[in-house]
Amino acid sequence: MNINFTYVPGDGIGPEVGAATLVVMDAIAKAFGHTLDIEEHLIGGAAIDAGLKPLPDDTFASCEKTGAILLGAVGGPKWDHLKGEDRPELGSLLPLRKNLNLYANIRPCKPYPALIDQAPLKRDRLEGVDFVVMRELTGGIYFGDKGRDEQGAFDVCRYSEAEVERIAIKAFDLAMTRRKKVTSVDKSNVLETSRLWRETVEKVATRYPEVELQHLLVDAMTMHMLTHAQSFDVILTENMFGDILTDEASVLCGSMGVIPSASLSDGRTGMFEPIHGSAPDIAGQGKANPLAMILSASWMLNLSFGLTQEATAIEVAVNAALSDHQTTGDLGGTLSTAQVGEWIANHVAQHHG
Ligand code: NAD
Ligand code: IPM
Ligand code: MN
Repeated sequence: MNINFTYVPGDGIGPEVGAATLVVMDAIAKAFGHTLDIEEHLIGGAAIDAGLKPLPDDTFASCEKTGAILLGAVGGPKWDHLKGEDRPELGSLLPLRKNLNLYANIRPCKPYPALIDQAPLKRDRLEGVDFVVMRELTGGIYFGDKGRDEQGAFDVCRYSEAEVERIAIKAFDLAMTRRKKVTSVDKSNVLETSRLWRETVEKVATRYPEVELQHLLVDAMTMHMLTHAQSFDVILTENMFGDILTDEASVLCGSMGVIPSASLSDGRTGMFEPIHGSAPDIAGQGKANPLAMILSASWMLNLSFGLTQEATAIEVAVNAALSDHQTTGDLGGTLSTAQVGEWIANHVAQHHG
């Protein structure tokens, strides 16, 4: 197969974890007899530095055309003085998500057995944890009116019933393939959008009698995630709460550097990116953990190209690297970003083809 995708490494550690990922993709292509047709484009601060918009037209056109996007990260202190849509985050990542209608963002949390002792929580809080966060990605406070007036500043949070309904359906459909439980997280004791969220989720739930529905307030959820994360299966939540809760969830898994994500629409378009950012504190030092990006590529192979064996080969290799302590410093290892990529690529080559 010709694996045609758009590669947008972006800023900070994005190009470092991206390069390690392409080495793995190369090994997959060789082992399974595919060709890689990679459309690499500038995005975020890297595009700004080249004198372009944060989301250049040809970058967006390629994303739209291939419908399979592998993204590193955007943003960093160098561009923090910029305002509004001149910023990498607001000017590239958000319009990409919105314009491709990538409203369903899936972020897993299943601590690898080899990493349980890396996490700051006790083993008994982590064993058996296996949940997925279904984060609404194209609505809410991220996309409402924002601005300044005489008194101060504002960010409007809006949700339509249709927006809540479609992400709820995604969560319930996913729960039907898993342990049949949805935990919907909101702030309905204060926010009107959360009251609509809760009502709409309850309506959708009536179509899924087999699925147990639980509601939790987001403040309490931050605590439950640390005390009994085993009780969750699919966590359904709005854009901003999902952003915050998934960084918290990454702690259960040992590092920000191991969680991939998929952002999906109703059609075939998908964007795959680690949940972490550009990590300016470690950028340029070869310290970044590439596993989140490598696993994002594995999700792309599976979800965009239907290449399940290839996706599994990557997951098996990642598991092997963790069990063998072939990791970067965030997981207690001594390897560089590139060395982890090479180790995974070699594992793929040795076990396939
Ligand atoms: P961050 O996720 O970049 O980093 C948080 C912490 O986790 C840092 O200490 C970092 O060193 C560590 N970390 C992150 N990824 C790691 C990896 N792969 N391996 C090892 N350690 C890793 O969050 P931040 O520092 O708050 O944000 C930095 C910039 O990234 C900001 O400009 C932010 O807007 C941007 N950002 C972009 C995305 C994205 O493009 N999807 C996501 C999050 C943040
Ligand atoms: C993420 C990031 C983004 C978000 C930022 C960079 C806009 O934190 O993907 O988790 O908040 O969605
Ligand atoms: Mn985030």
